[in-house]
Amino acid sequence: MTLPKLFQPFTLKGVTARNRIVVSPMCQYQSLHGSPTDWHIVHMGRYAIGGAGIVFYEETAVEDRGRKTHKCAGLYRDDQIPEYRRIVSFVKEFGGVPAIQLGHSGSRASERGPLFSRVALDETNRTEGGEAWQSISSSAVPSVEDKPLPRAMEQRDINDVVQAFADATRRSLEAGFEMLEIHGAHGYLIQQFLSPVINRRNDAYGGDLKGRMRFALEITEAVRAVWPEDKPLCFRVSSIDGKGGLWTLHDTVALAKELKALGVDVLDCSSGGLTGSSTLRAVPRIPGYHVPYAKAVKEATGLLTMAPGLVTDPHQAEALLQQGDVDLIAMARELMYSSDWPAHAARALNVSNYLELFPPEFTLRLKLREEQLAMPQNQPGATVPVDLNS
Ligand SMILES: Cc1cc2nc3c(=O)[nH]c(=O)nc-3n(C[C@H](O)[C@H](O)[C@H](O)COP(=O)(O)O)c2cc1C
Repeated sequence: MTLPKLFQPFTLKGVTARNRIVVSPMCQYQSLHGSPTDWHIVHMGRYAIGGAGIVFYEETAVEDRGRKTHKCAGLYRDDQIPEYRRIVSFVKEFGGVPAIQLGHSGSRASERGPLFSRVALDETNRTEGGEAWQSISSSAVPSVEDKPLPRAMEQRDINDVVQAFADATRRSLEAGFEMLEIHGAHGYLIQQFLSPVINRRNDAYGGDLKGRMRFALEITEAVRAVWPEDKPLCFRVSSIDGKGGLWTLHDTVALAKELKALGVDVLDCSSGGLTGSSTLRAVPRIPGYHVPYAKAVKEATGLLTMAPGLVTDPHQAEALLQQGDVDLIAMARELMYSSDWPAHAARALNVSNYLELFPPEFTLRLKLREEQLAMPQNQPGATVPVDLNS
């Protein structure tokens, strides 16, 4: 029997994943001074043990000031490299491809995180050691109402951030990551340049689409110059801004063409982050809700794509790959709910050796368990008397 596409190995440039299941980046708010903690070994490790093909580390800030909260991840110092290496080795040891998403939150920095409704850090937090800091953005426009005003970036800041992306890329490489994604979505700094909802500049980095794309393209060029040719590069975009936004799929396709020319291999099609007052509507949350955007990008550019968004069912995932709508299946919450989803999905799709997605010690014991469960005495209706004296 031919292996379902979901479980066929995926080779891109010099990297081969054991299947097409991608753990989408998930911020954990468990970092210490930007560095990973034991939490991250467990978080990343459970997906590698569970059989995913590519395991993304959460959005990792390229500058200290680019973190959203004090507990967000960063890779802005060389001494952090060994701490990431530990996680990378673990993921590799258990068959996953370790991947990292690099980003900068721009005006979304200096906040308290999702458990506290993402409110800005204030004086109370300062006295508890959680000092607020000045955020930056394309323009002095807050990306969310009621947030403190960011400082509009000068050319010097732009150069610094582009260089920070290049430096964090070098550190990612030294840590052993094999795939890298630039986070250009969800209302963070790159999108704050792309979208006219925030970008009000009248210099070379603002105005028309070409100007607003310049920052994203300079970052991509700087990253690709450091990230080796044989390692895949992804870019996550908000295919449309969000409710009332101004960035459209048409703009995404134009950006994707430029990114492809700069050496991006995969466009990771997400959405949202910035809201405005236009008639643009948010993407309705239905299974595979970003797939139509990824499909449109793929058709227009020939780029490989992935499209996270309520993919939970193995048959649905397989159909998306068979139809050629996407090339990889990116998932976040379903894997958080069930990190062994790959093995369950393989079973549902009749992959005979589905238990081999687990580490060998698990496989051995779980195969024995399957044999025991298949014994006649364990079939419905069968009863086996238990004699405690024999
Ligand atoms: C806990 C959590 C943290 C997330 N953090 C990130 C992140 O660091 N970077 C990012 O691009 N998306 C992030 N996302 C979005 C996911 O990567 C994904 O795109 C989204 O959850 C939709 O996919 P799903 O329906 O499979 O969860 C996060 C989602 C969750 C649930």
